[in-house]
Amino acid sequence: MAEAVEEAAEVLRAGGLVAFPTETVYGLGADASNAEAVRKIFAVKRRPAWHPLIVHLSGAEMLGEWAVDIPDAARALADRFWPGPLTMILARSARVPDAVTGGQDTVGLRVPAQPVALAMLAAFGGGVAAPSANRFGRISPTTADDVRAELGDEVDLVLDGGPCEVGVESTIVDLSTMANSAKNPACTPTILRPGAVTAAMLEEALGSRVSLSAAVDHPTVRAPGTLDSHYSPNARVEVSSATGVRRRARVLVAEGLRVGVLAPTLLRVPPEVHHFDPAGDSAAYARCLYRRFREADSIGLDVLLVVPPEPHGVGLAVVDRIRRAAG
Ligand code: TXA
Ligand code: MG
Repeated sequence: MAEAVEEAAEVLRAGGLVAFPTETVYGLGADASNAEAVRKIFAVKRRPAWHPLIVHLSGAEMLGEWAVDIPDAARALADRFWPGPLTMILARSARVPDAVTGGQDTVGLRVPAQPVALAMLAAFGGGVAAPSANRFGRISPTTADDVRAELGDEVDLVLDGGPCEVGVESTIVDLSTMANSAKNPACTPTILRPGAVTAAMLEEALGSRVSLSAAVDHPTVRAPGTLDSHYSPNARVEVSSATGVRRRARVLVAEGLRVGVLAPTLLRVPPEVHHFDPAGDSAAYARCLYRRFREADSIGLDVLLVVPPEPHGVGLAVVDRIRRAAG
């Protein structure tokens, strides 16, 4: 692995693209200081250029290179949650190219908690701009095979770190409005995308309130950092209740559709309906959600009925991704 990591750092230095594991999902990385390299990410993902990227760092001591006007709250959260599944939105420093931020004056920063990712970032030494390593709007990859299947040889190197432990993307918290919080005490950190680091965990670390953006409460509302048509398999995703899912499955089967059910409790479904088990608590559900979406596509389902977990802890992130998949 040490050799592969060194090779990855070389590819990054040369302006190439490296897919790498993180604890959340696999990322598609390029040298964040090299605008030309960053533009390749957008080309491979077919991602609109206004959609900003997260810059991955090897440690919190690099914060000051990439952000300015860093509020104390950001230092406190970095201390507590980095390396980990938390992305902070801060005012960007002059070194961040427009290509990374889509021209915005803020930048998303995170230190991932994955040994292969950390080794690569340390060997490279700079910041690595990386979105999830999937085509725009599609399911995030949680294994190296997922990346190879989707992006193939459009990536210069795929680092294999095994399956991702968390399984859904990092929590994104916007702290950029706090820089002037002495003048504007009403400013609170805002979660733009829920993840494994929950609002309660952030509030506990900060000793103050954290708000959820409208897009988290109502995922049909558009907000920076979110899109309503994300994370979707080819199968149509429908959100169901535990009590209504069997009847709905029967109706769809009667219409001649190929139907699957993803439900946390074991349900007796009609024999022609494929049952996917999200296996256990909401953390287990998060870990396997995108795998189950891919399985639904690999067997050619028309509709996937999904019974979401309780919206607590990482369950809120799972509910959010399921709602977005349902569009
Ligand atoms: O877990 C993760 O965050 C993974 C791994 C690879 O680190 N990355 C990831 O990247 O999910 P991506 O590009 O698929 O999603 C990043 C989200 C996008 O919705 C983007 O709009 C938002 O972060 N974002 C990035 N910079 C931002 C900024 N300056 N302001 C608001 N949102 C931002
Ligand atoms: Mg993504």
